[in-house]
Amino acid sequence: MKAALPVPILRELRIAQPSRSKIGSQRPARSPALDGPLGGLQWFAGPILGLPMDAPLSVSRSASESAFRSALGATIWLTGLSGAGKTTIAQALAETLRSRGLPVEVLDGDLVRQYLSKGLGFSKEDRDENIRRIGFVAQLLARNGVYTIVSAISPYREVRREVRSMIERFVEVYVNAPLAVCESRDVKGLYAKARAGMIRGFTGIDDPYEAPERAEVECRTDRDELPACVEQILSQLQALGYLPPQ
Ligand code: ADX
Repeated sequence: MKAALPVPILRELRIAQPSRSKIGSQRPARSPALDGPLGGLQWFAGPILGLPMDAPLSVSRSASESAFRSALGATIWLTGLSGAGKTTIAQALAETLRSRGLPVEVLDGDLVRQYLSKGLGFSKEDRDENIRRIGFVAQLLARNGVYTIVSAISPYREVRREVRSMIERFVEVYVNAPLAVCESRDVKGLYAKARAGMIRGFTGIDDPYEAPERAEVECRTDRDELPACVEQILSQLQALGYLPPQ
């Protein structure tokens, strides 16, 4: 059975703007949801960014008002094995975009699963549902000019293709490191548990990961340093015309 969306999320979604045509839309007026004194999604942004729930939004609207207003928004979708470096890249990229005065949100797999996808497991069906939910929220944010960075294993090609088709300005980033490298990092100790049979259906061990065939960017985190990976993504965003002039 699928988990219901938590009430606060439904409330936020209800006050979001009505749907707009995907093709050729200009940046819409900001939604009231984002203009409230605390910013409409702030309750969610706190834990996503690893901040306390009542932390202020880190975008400076006064200093960078014009960059903020001219932001087109985009969805930067980081896919890759657990331990490949998705979260690290997401945070560094978010920081860089924010330092340019752009509005940014990060939807991180582990945290999304505590809120938006609470109750979902790791079957193919549940993973696909998780990705569709993240895709839906990313689309709402990005069409309001937010640079939305998704960091989720998203192991299945077909559902990644599906969310891509829903979202304008979608940039897929394959965060790639060989399984042996991810496993040797084993930041959360989950590979060891999977090898010991304590976790079943772990991506890369006894569950599939379908690598992207045509990602806009591939970051090789076993070879390249973090700043180089972030730079690669920024260059691609620039080349695609998704960043406002600096
Ligand atoms: S996804 O497959 O639906 O995209 P998601 O990115 O949200 O996965 O969550 C992955 C995180 O859940 C991993 O980083 C890990 O911490 C945890 N996890 C727990 N069980 C599993 C599993 N069986 N396979 C992969 N990750 C798991």
